[in-house]
Amino acid sequence: MNMDQPARIGILTISDRASSGAYEDQGGPAIRDWLAKAIQTSWEAVARVIPDDEALIEATLRELSDREACCLIVTTGGTGPAPRDVTPEATAKVCAKMLPGFGELMRAVSLASVPTAILSRQTAGIRGRSLILNLPGKPAAIAECLHAVFPAVPYCIDLIGGAYLETYPDFCAAFRPAGARRGENVQVQSPRTP
Ligand code: MTE
Repeated sequence: MNMDQPARIGILTISDRASSGAYEDQGGPAIRDWLAKAIQTSWEAVARVIPDDEALIEATLRELSDREACCLIVTTGGTGPAPRDVTPEATAKVCAKMLPGFGELMRAVSLASVPTAILSRQTAGIRGRSLILNLPGKPAAIAECLHAVFPAVPYCIDLIGGAYLETYPDFCAAFRPAGARRGENVQVQSPRTP
């Protein structure tokens, strides 16, 4: 990881209607705005808007991870029970390791706002040096879910050898265990990445 380069963060909107132009993508810009308020270190967004097509979601996640070298890929949409909702399946297919705690916490926090929070199958996982994180498509869900889980995100990225992210503590205080130091825990890419 070159510390002089800005961290790259993938922002992937998964929506048949936003990708066809039936409506404007609101999820991607909402993620970008939230991250701009949260992350102090230099970063740049790699944004994509695609339909709810499982093979295309998998290919785009692989591209954002392997070619675009994103340390974090945040998706929005396609997590629900409808037939076209396949984001969690595509995420699981490309990840070597799942992190179910992210989905558990996001659903628990969202449940305080809407009973339908339990309809989201959102999850997270690791592909190489990328953390992939699913958010629901509703713009209101984006800030709520990111606020809940983001304190654990920078340390998770440390552990997989990604960029060192620092947050604005007044907006979102990242937690690193006592003794965790910059540049430690860097691992080589898993050879079993799917
Ligand atoms: N989570 C939050 N915080 N706020 C919401 O409005 N909507 C729910 C749920 N999670 C919602 C939420 C609803 S109605 C659905 S169907 C699921 O997310 C899945 O949404 P998606 O298919 O757009 O990903």
